Amino acid sequence: MITKLVKVDAERPDLNVLREAADILRNGGLVAFPTETVYGLGANGLDAEACKKIYEAKGRPSDNPLILTIGDLNGLYPIVNKVTENAEKIIKAFWPGPITLVLPKADCVPDTVTGGLDTVAIRFPSHAVARELIKLAGIPVAAPSANSSGKPSPTRASHVEFDLNGKIDMIIDGGPAEWGLESTILDVSEDKPVLLRPGAVTKEMIEGVVGEIDVDPAVYMKPSADIVPKAPGMKYKHYSPSASVILVSGSRDNVIKKINEKTEEDLKKGLSVGIMATEQTKDCYKAGKILVVGDREKPETIGANLFKILRKFDYIGADVVYSEVFDEDGEGAAIMNRLNKAAAFNYIRC
Ligand code: TXA
Ligand code: MG
Repeated sequence: MITKLVKVDAERPDLNVLREAADILRNGGLVAFPTETVYGLGANGLDAEACKKIYEAKGRPSDNPLILTIGDLNGLYPIVNKVTENAEKIIKAFWPGPITLVLPKADCVPDTVTGGLDTVAIRFPSHAVARELIKLAGIPVAAPSANSSGKPSPTRASHVEFDLNGKIDMIIDGGPAEWGLESTILDVSEDKPVLLRPGAVTKEMIEGVVGEIDVDPAVYMKPSADIVPKAPGMKYKHYSPSASVILVSGSRDNVIKKINEKTEEDLKKGLSVGIMATEQTKDCYKAGKILVVGDREKPETIGANLFKILRKFDYIGADVVYSEVFDEDGEGAAIMNRLNKAAAFNYIRC
């Protein structure tokens, strides 16, 4: 299959391009498109055959359900059988935007989308390209991240092209994704909301609207026989480059010293060593391939760059990557959740 790659303006996209993409979706094809979190891989969310193609293109396990995206609020009601009180509050506060809600599903949603669950995850993105495309398609659009399963989510059209070229019909390039980490997922299907995946809409922001919520323990602990994530996709080793990622935590000086020592040791063994540094520390490392993920004073820069930098370490052929760690409050929770997964919770504490 030849994958068509088309550039559009992120704020005022060419509607002719989006009409062509909407036709592909309605006819059962696959289109990757930008959202404010990461690029999504779209298919007709009510067409089981079209959704199967998503699993094939991504190499995604079939028990990992898809998110349905909608282009306006009216799109919500036909695909759920209940909008809970907490869901209404969250919708008012944060939609359209980077938060996905899990709700009881309507019968029209195929099992291929939900992996057989009786709930469905729904997102109303704010990105102009995503919204217009979904509206023009006139259907709920299933849209997982547009990466090969297990790889870091794509924050650029070039990442999608690298993973999926020749496997999908079209890629719409709307420039870099603003947030760079996938949406927050909140299960509001029952009385007490449960945070399943941290994202740009933080726990603190959610609690400001609905009061105290629960957090799925798999958000901050390594999945095991006792800790099974409620979001099936969170159980897979995810977001990970080919290199082994090792997180180094401790005081600033200890971390720098330890990373310099480990780098020297590994270089002697003939390994290619990457270091994920910050603006604050980039000049403190002596050897290895040093990439700056962002500025500690502006955590949003770290979220926006994390997946791009993890992919870059693959590109430059790093065997091992040492990374600093970050504060876990606010948006730091999402950053550390993805980093912990990339590293399979592999830590050096010093
Ligand atoms: O920001 C995002 O949400 C991006 C953009 C493209 O929309 N999409 C995304 O989709 O991250 P994906 O498929 O990579 O992640 C969706 C997660 C998976 O971990 C999946 O298991 C979980 O949502 N999920 C889907 N349906 C669910 C359900 N009914 N209950 C619990 N978790 C669900
Ligand atoms: Mg994904």
